[in-house]
Amino acid sequence: MIIEQVKSAIKSEEYRLLEELKSFLRFKSISTNPIYKNEIYSCANWLVDNFKSIGLNSNLIETDTNPLVYAEYNGAGIDKPTILVYGHYDVQPEVPIELWNSDPFEPLVKDGFIYGRGTADDKGQIFTHVKAIEVLLKNKIKIPVNVKFIIEGEEESGGEAIEKFLLTNSELLSCDCILISDTEWHDGGDVAKALPAICYSLRGIGGFEMTVIGPNRDLHSGSYGGAVANPINILCEMIAKVTNEVGYIQIPNYYNNVLPLSNEERIELAKLDFNEIEYKKDLNVNSLTGEAKYSVIERTSARPTFDVNGISGGYTDEGHKSIIPSRATAKFSFRIVPNQNWQEAVEQFKSYFISIAPDSVRLEFKNEQGGNPVLAPIDSKGVVVARKALKDAFNLDSVLMREGGSIPIVSLFQEQLKAPAVLMALGLSTDNIHSPNENFALSHYYGGILASALFLTSYE
Ligand code: BES
Ligand code: MN
Ligand code: MN
Repeated sequence: MIIEQVKSAIKSEEYRLLEELKSFLRFKSISTNPIYKNEIYSCANWLVDNFKSIGLNSNLIETDTNPLVYAEYNGAGIDKPTILVYGHYDVQPEVPIELWNSDPFEPLVKDGFIYGRGTADDKGQIFTHVKAIEVLLKNKIKIPVNVKFIIEGEEESGGEAIEKFLLTNSELLSCDCILISDTEWHDGGDVAKALPAICYSLRGIGGFEMTVIGPNRDLHSGSYGGAVANPINILCEMIAKVTNEVGYIQIPNYYNNVLPLSNEERIELAKLDFNEIEYKKDLNVNSLTGEAKYSVIERTSARPTFDVNGISGGYTDEGHKSIIPSRATAKFSFRIVPNQNWQEAVEQFKSYFISIAPDSVRLEFKNEQGGNPVLAPIDSKGVVVARKALKDAFNLDSVLMREGGSIPIVSLFQEQLKAPAVLMALGLSTDNIHSPNENFALSHYYGGILASALFLTSYE
């Protein structure tokens, strides 16, 4: 049996498989700040070498921004299906460092978990697929499919490079199925009861910065207050006009392309475990917000949202300073759902802000970015094979779910490559992705290697 063979191969190499993952995690491949360029390159080169060391053809692909890593296994022959594995080797910044219990870039193994930035988003998860093919090759287990890997280095900061690359290299990436592990298992508030998940929808995301510009310099608020508009006050008033009290976006026609949830789907989503009391307790909040017609699961994965991520301007140091500041800036992001389009949504937001801005200020916009939402088929062969692989590897039945988070390139993958995405989750809700003490359960690392190996050997 392949399963027993792979299991014992993983078992006998546990130590090395973990040490290699640690080496991968040590690179500070933070994509949100260009000062880490060298680390990005070292990390990408290390990954290329790792692919080569297991017998795959691999190369670094230079782009205008961060390099892509490509690798392929062609051993199955040209008439066999091809699986494209996607992931990202870049990570989020580690800040705030003081809230970490260990060095974010010196991986620590404790009580069955590995701690460090990128352990679960997404280095640990990518590496399960890399090591799966290695285990199969090493043990001469027949791989009935060809496998391509495309690993990007800037998913966390918009992913421009891979988009450009995909638009001009669809042939190189052509495949029958796109396999991605960058999402989470489902639990209803108790991680001990988490279930493997196939995610069939991701929200899209868009964002930009807006500066409200008032007088040409900061002014004495006593001398000028009453006649000159305060950009921070105006910014807040404008933000307050974006949503109503339950978060419904007030922009005309904003929901035109929102695909309504079918009754059938709502019935399925309602079957997923969810404990609102535990959810609130975990977050230390008294009550939740949002559109009452929709469940929390629906509100956090199938409905549009708008968030102010940061706001700056004026005086925020010790004590008081009685000024009317000259300008105020906010960073916004919004989640969109099938079939909205992020560029269109950005334009809708901008036009709306322009339409509600008083004549007393000017607006400036910059850094527009985003990615489209994803809807993947739930009956593709890849989904069937992935659910079986998860069942065999973890001895648990999987659920079908939507994710509220975004992976910007996935919708373009499906469009350009005309292949279905299979989002085979390996993370847990307690992984602390983007947060201090990010971690990945070792059972999910080794189990993920097994699941991936089973996927590759049973997809024909
Ligand atoms: N892996 C996440 C997406 C995700 C988040 C999946 C939560 C499942 C649960 C991905 O790396 C991510 O963080 N995406 C960003 C994209 C953005 C920076 C363009 C996101 O969703 O904010
Ligand atoms: Mn990710
Ligand atoms: Mn992320």
